[in-house]
Amino acid sequence: MKKNKEIDLLMLLVRLVTRGSWILVFGGLLALIYIPYADSINSMFDPPPPQLTGSYASAADMDPDKVVDGIHVASGMKYDDNFMIVRAACTSCHSAKLVTQNRATREGWKQMIRWMQATQGLHDLGKDEGKILDYLAKNYAPEDVGRRKSLDQDVIEWYTLKLE
Ligand code: HEC
Repeated sequence: MKKNKEIDLLMLLVRLVTRGSWILVFGGLLALIYIPYADSINSMFDPPPPQLTGSYASAADMDPDKVVDGIHVASGMKYDDNFMIVRAACTSCHSAKLVTQNRATREGWKQMIRWMQATQGLHDLGKDEGKILDYLAKNYAPEDVGRRKSLDQDVIEWYTLKLE
């Protein structure tokens, strides 16, 4: 019985060694195959290159001169006479939104221009100023929505308030 056990142990050792060497041989062969093709094999596992999608693609094919329903799409400004002059003069320092979000009379716009000239370094607009004011006063005029009519004083029946 004792002898059998020793033989079993021996056989196990032999098997381990021969298997181990097979693994070495097999691994060595794999390495030999792998090395010359390493680059192409590695690249199979690389993440795919990024694609231009969504906003990038649409920004790329967005027409800078597109006008929809009288609005110049890229700036959001109304597309009207003198638009080009106003866009050139008024969007170099700040967004066109600052213009389109404001409403004023011609005089009000003139004052805003004077304020920017006095404090923000806006240059003299020269002969363009009239055209710029035409555009602003026409397209960004104050809109008096929902103002009630003045009371007709003659129709009102006045009464004296008695305080005592
Ligand atoms: C030299 C630079 C410059 C140019 C060009 C310029 N602006 Fe301005 N503007 C400014 C600055 C700076 C402000 C203040 C911005 C802020 O408060 O964030 C301003 C503010 C404004 C405002 C807001 C005023 C308020 O009371 O809030 C309006 C409206 C405006 N600009 C309209 C115009 C128009 C119309 C033109 C073209 C005639 C123009 N801007 C050109 C510099 C400029």
